[in-house]
Amino acid sequence: MKKIIIGAYMLIVAAVACTPKASPSATDAVIPEAASVSSDQATVDAGHTIFTTKCTKCHGAKDKAVASKSYEELRPVLASMSKKAKLSKEEIQQVSAYVYANAKK
Ligand code: HEC
Repeated sequence: MKKIIIGAYMLIVAAVACTPKASPSATDAVIPEAASVSSDQATVDAGHTIFTTKCTKCHGAKDKAVASKSYEELRPVLASMSKKAKLSKEEIQQVSAYVYANAKK
């Protein structure tokens, strides 16, 4: 009986810990609008590093996909990809800067 109670408790803890929160948190990917993307070279370079490391865990570097789409088209893609790659807010700013610099103009 004790085991069942402990098991049930663990389940509840896991369920609570894994439920997405409604309020904005650090993991909520908010991709900056074109007007507020950084064009600072150091930020773009940092974004390139993330793009070729953290973003290549599931697929190769998506250079072609980025070059063939406008930044506005890529924003929703970036939002879901940043979540997949579990990027921090700062990393999101950097990857966005890299993608913006290389997207179709
Ligand atoms: C957890 C796995 C995973 C991670 C991490 C990931 N992606 Fe993806 N990505 C996918 C899948 C799955 C697809 C769709 C299949 C494909 O195109 O390979 C995709 C597709 C894409 C596409 C093509 C979308 C289109 O419309 O053609 C782009 C661009 C992209 N990812 C960029 C990124 C960037 C940038 C990052 C890092 C922030 C990233 N991905 C991280 C899984 C991932």
